[in-house]
Amino acid sequence: MGNMLVTGGAGFIGSNFTFYWLEHHPDDKIICLDKLTYAGNLSTLRLVMDKPNFKFVKGDICDRGRVFDLFQAERPEVVVNFAAETHVDRSIDGPNVFLQTNLIGTATLLDACREFGVERYHQVSTDEVYGDLPLDRPDLLFTESTPLHTSSPYSASKAGADLIVQAYHKTFGVPVTISRCSNNYGPYQFPEKLIPLMVLNALQDKPLPVYGEGVNVRDWLYVEDHCRAIDLILQRGRPGEVYNVGGHNERRNADVVKLICKELGKPEDLITYVTDRKGHDRRYAIDPEKIHSELGWLPETKFETGMKQTVQWYVENREWWKDIISGEYQQYYKTMYNNLVGA
Ligand code: NAD
Ligand code: TYD
Repeated sequence: MGNMLVTGGAGFIGSNFTFYWLEHHPDDKIICLDKLTYAGNLSTLRLVMDKPNFKFVKGDICDRGRVFDLFQAERPEVVVNFAAETHVDRSIDGPNVFLQTNLIGTATLLDACREFGVERYHQVSTDEVYGDLPLDRPDLLFTESTPLHTSSPYSASKAGADLIVQAYHKTFGVPVTISRCSNNYGPYQFPEKLIPLMVLNALQDKPLPVYGEGVNVRDWLYVEDHCRAIDLILQRGRPGEVYNVGGHNERRNADVVKLICKELGKPEDLITYVTDRKGHDRRYAIDPEKIHSELGWLPETKFETGMKQTVQWYVENREWWKDIISGEYQQYYKTMYNNLVGA
């Protein structure tokens, strides 16, 4: 593919994608543009920082001058946009930055694509744009033609971004693709999301704050399977198309947390049921038939195996998360879980 611009590459999925891509396509060059918000960490990229075919650039995707200068200098053939504000709870607390990065940032990247020309712009989107499904209708799944019907400021901003991406395809002919993936888990996920937060709390014998009754359902996918799906879409996906990515792996939140306790040999009575999230989506479930039949994608990592690997990764990489959970994280945790005894 030549030069690829990966935005948000210092975050969870973007970094895993960078490692995946440089391993499977060693002749390509990746330029990573990342603002290094609280969720982006340079230490995550230390494995590739010295590679001659990797370049890190600190910058904001909303900064038009910065983005256009970068396109002028690097002339990327492919852009994969992971950069986003991504945490639903933070979007409830303060929606504005979500609108800025997820909408304006996406439009700025697309303007640069129009100006300089690219072979492909890929938008990394989410199943949350479809809203939620009832708990008692396991027959219902999100397909690519399910109407967008969002709940949180996060999902609304991601849905808006998808519409902008599709508009730039239809109106200006930018060769775009969109993937809408279910919840990812794996190494380097910031410990404010369910799985890493619970692993870290359990390791520290702290309460495990499960929202509501823990019956909400998420469809979990190992991050490397998501990276492989994006690879296939970049190689063979049809411009203008949306591809759902998910592995038929629905779990109730309480069951995920119990599995973490089991993996770490911690008692389940660490689980503490706390006030529910506002507008909490009940269930997400992806129908991946299109990407399976068109591109031959199937998930390769079983949930139990992926979870074992993920939990083990956090056990072995204390240095990575010890740094991250100092400072701003402590403040966030206090505000978010303030009435949690022993937090
Ligand atoms: P993350 O929060 O871990 O990382 C986001 C990265 O984007 C960080 O490195 C951050 O510094 C960077 N960033 C934020 N604002 C920026 C800006 N204005 N300019 C440049 N960089 C900026 O997120 P993630 O979980 O890796 O998610 C990546 C993408 O995948 C997002 O678009 C998200 O919506 C989507 N997605 C995530 C999941 C999931 O389960 N995590 C599932 C489906 C889709
Ligand atoms: P999260 O990882 O924030 O992802 P998303 O909301 O984008 O799916 O949350 C996953 C599920 O776990 C969601 O139903 C909310 C729930 N949850 C808790 O029960 N406790 C927590 O402390 C967190 C962060 C999430």
